[in-house]
Amino acid sequence: MHQDTTSGPEGAPSTHDTWVCPTGFDSARLHEAVVAMYETVARSPRPGAFHFHVGADYAVQRLGYPAADLAELPAACTRRFAGVGNPLLAGPVPEGAVVLDHACGSGTDLLLAARRLGPAGHAIGVDITPGMRAAAMDAARAIAFDTPIEILPGSFDQLPLPARSVDLVLSNGVLNLASDKLQVLRETWRVLRPGGALYLADVVLGRPLAAPSRSNAALWAACVGGAMTEAALLDAMLHVGFHAPRIAARHDPFAGTRLPLKFGSDIQVASVTLSAHKPV
Ligand SMILES: C[S@@+](CC[C@H](N)C(=O)[O-])C[C@H]1O[C@@H](n2cnc3c(N)ncnc32)[C@H](O)[C@@H]1O
Repeated sequence: MHQDTTSGPEGAPSTHDTWVCPTGFDSARLHEAVVAMYETVARSPRPGAFHFHVGADYAVQRLGYPAADLAELPAACTRRFAGVGNPLLAGPVPEGAVVLDHACGSGTDLLLAARRLGPAGHAIGVDITPGMRAAAMDAARAIAFDTPIEILPGSFDQLPLPARSVDLVLSNGVLNLASDKLQVLRETWRVLRPGGALYLADVVLGRPLAAPSRSNAALWAACVGGAMTEAALLDAMLHVGFHAPRIAARHDPFAGTRLPLKFGSDIQVASVTLSAHKPV
């Protein structure tokens, strides 16, 4: 088991503290705030309307998604893209694999993966926000890929899938939203087959936030309040048993947003995209 001795600066939490939300934090309110936020994105995904970027131009210009690949997907899907990195940079998507995106939003990463899977593969998206699932389902019906695609309601801390049924889990901009990161990583571990992989992109902080910021549901729903440092994220993955986390890319997903205006210019945020494996 991985040992951690990291303590945060004065007034800031230690690494382990940031794996769960602060004591007394109202996680039911957080859940409502998160769904409300992403229903708004699903209903009206206007670039510049949020303190985070959305859409295909952002994905291409800031996160390195190939414009030609995104152009193959329905705009109704890519307009609602709200990831913070690019999990498909983390490794290959093998033909015939079962791929799960455990908080797929409108389905951009899932459908890009589905394109590579072929008829023997299976692409499964899970999300808690009905409007995001509807956008992903519409997009999946509209494209002519030959891979079976399913979009399921559910939460990434209690996935509606059997153990050891998935080869690859994709995760983009969502672990930060979980009130219990280890539970989400354990669920990911449970559904992965031995030898399976997690390609994850998430927000990372330059330094841990102090408790009042971490207890702010709006800041949490903005993908910042629940973010960890890169060291805490890697520690959490090792703690659950993932092997050899490897950073594939780093991005600056909040550059040019209203985040500093809204939440203060001393917040240091970036993102990492990484791969990690469940041992055989
Ligand atoms: C920042 S968006 C990212 C969406 C998608 N991964 C993308 O790259 O466009 C966050 C997504 O996570 C979903 N989400 C938040 N909490 C969740 C949970 N507990 N289980 C499943 N999905 C969740 C939201 O509904 C939203 O669609």
